[in-house]
Amino acid sequence: MKTFNTINQLQNYIAELKAQGKTIGFVPTMGALHNGHLSLVHAAKANNDIVVVSIFVNPIQFNNPEDLKKYPRTFKTDSNLLQKESCDAIFYPSVEEMYPKKVSKKYNFGPLEHVLEGEFRPGHFNGVAVVVAKLFDIVKANQAFFGKKDFQQLAIIRKLVEIDEIPIEIIACDTTREKDGLAMSSRNVRLSFEERKKAPLLFQALQMVKDNNNNLPPVELEKQALLALKEVFKPEYFKIVDGHSLQPIKQWSDTDYPVALLAAFLGDVRLIDNLEL
Ligand code: PAJ
Repeated sequence: MKTFNTINQLQNYIAELKAQGKTIGFVPTMGALHNGHLSLVHAAKANNDIVVVSIFVNPIQFNNPEDLKKYPRTFKTDSNLLQKESCDAIFYPSVEEMYPKKVSKKYNFGPLEHVLEGEFRPGHFNGVAVVVAKLFDIVKANQAFFGKKDFQQLAIIRKLVEIDEIPIEIIACDTTREKDGLAMSSRNVRLSFEERKKAPLLFQALQMVKDNNNNLPPVELEKQALLALKEVFKPEYFKIVDGHSLQPIKQWSDTDYPVALLAAFLGDVRLIDNLEL
């Protein structure tokens, strides 16, 4: 497995492989890798000759400076995990390498960017889109793998590919969970022992909604879920939406693809999760 810190080195490596007719699967990450990330690497390896994983804590997608400062950075462990997953190359650039100049690009994702995460994390998805567009341009992969854990991010990336006409296939992968249902996340390590014990309540709330989607209207279930979460968390939202447009639904007949999504603080750790209903 090779590690590249510069765009130039990585591009030379990829050009050579492409000349040999090899296909490239790409997994963009911010590191602090867990089994959720590794499931994407696994899927990328199963479908491509070569797997490239990027590890870059992208400063311009953090709207909270404290969150950026506390984001776990564990390159050595990440690199060992990737080696075991038969990853071929890691792209691990510095901030200066990725952003030699101030970023001014502004995307317009329409109604997609104003709901859910977009409402509570202004500028976040623009920062995600800028870095992913840049990474796609550098890696020139055949396929890129994203987790449904970040459901709205996935929708934004699909839109980005459409807007910028990027020749790449986006593959969505299921959320990997701990045994107790908690969605794996790099932020989980910041939970205290007590908080970690309470965290699975998020998945239980989503599950409760899924179990009752025959007998209660969406708005009523949102209310009940929020009430249950408030016992333990500071929830920002719990919404049932149309999984294509991410716009809220009033009744089940408004969509053929209902999805429940939530964001909630446990202490000072912000967690998100979702479930296809
Ligand atoms: P990061 O949070 O490191 O996640 C990298 C990828 O792993 C994303 O596609 C995310 O959805 C996926 N992922 C995270 N937890 C998962 C889980 N429990 N199960 C399955 N997949 C999971 O998302 C980002 O980084 C950044 O925004 C990035 C796209 C790299 C741009 O900076």
